[in-house]
Amino acid sequence: MRKPVVMGNWKLNGTKSTVTDLIKAFTGVANANEKVDVAICAPAIFIGMVESLATGSKLQWGSEDVDVHTSGAFTGENSPVMIKEFGSTYAIVGHSERRGYHNESNEVVAAKFKAAQDNGLVPVLCIGESEAEYDAGKTLDVCQAEIKAVIDLCGIEAFKNAIIAYEPIWAIGTGKTATPEIAQNVHAGIRAFLKTFNAEVADGVRILYGGSCNAKTAPELFAQKDIDGGLIGGASLKVADFTAIIEAATANA
Ligand code: 13P
Repeated sequence: MRKPVVMGNWKLNGTKSTVTDLIKAFTGVANANEKVDVAICAPAIFIGMVESLATGSKLQWGSEDVDVHTSGAFTGENSPVMIKEFGSTYAIVGHSERRGYHNESNEVVAAKFKAAQDNGLVPVLCIGESEAEYDAGKTLDVCQAEIKAVIDLCGIEAFKNAIIAYEPIWAIGTGKTATPEIAQNVHAGIRAFLKTFNAEVADGVRILYGGSCNAKTAPELFAQKDIDGGLIGGASLKVADFTAIIEAATANA
C-alpha cells in the first residue's frame, strides 16, 4: 500500500506574513491527517522560516529546485546540502517551469535528481507533456524519456526513494485539469514502463498528479488506482482549498 502524498509547490509566491499564516494552518492539518504525507515546497528564501514554524509537527517541507553542486562559485544557486540543513525532506526537480524558462534538459534534471538524493533529500521528479505533444499522442514517449534520463544516471533503484509527479503542461495553472481517466491512463503507463526495469520499484513508487488539481477535482483523481496524491500549485496558497485536497487524500488512504 502506497502512502498518499499531498505536496504544495508555492512557486514564486509568499511574504513573511502569508508564510506564517499558511504554515501555522498546515501544521494542524498535517497533524490531523496522519495517513497522508503532507508537504510544502517553498521558495528557498523561506525554507528556514518554514523549518522554525513546522518543526515538531507532521508537516514536511522542501525546495522547488536544487543545484547540481554542493558549494562553490555558482552565484544564485541553492545547494542540496543547504536545503537539507534547514530540515527539508524533499527537493522538486524538473518542474516544467524550470525546464521551459531555464532550458533544463533531461540530463540536467537527472543530475539535479542525483545531487538531491546523494545529499539526503527525496527528489520529486516532475514529468509531463506539452499540449502539442498531447495532441500528437506523444505523452508517454515524453514521460518515458524524462524518466529514462534518471535511470541512465542513477539506476532504477533510485526510485525506491523518490517521487514522480506527472504534470501535463497544458493543465498547469490553466484550470484545465486532466480528467481522472486521462491521468490514470498516463500513471498506469508510467508504472508499466518502470516495471520493465524492476517490478518491485514500479509497485512502490508514488506517482502524484499535478495541474489545476483543486478541492473539486482531487477526490476523483485520488480515487484512481495509480494516482498516489497530488503536487498542488495555486490551491496550496489557500488554506481551505489545500485542506480539502489533503482530506480527499485521507479518504483514499
Ligand atoms: P497549479 O496547481 O497551479 O496548476 O500548478 C501545478 C504545478 O505546477 C505544481 O507543481
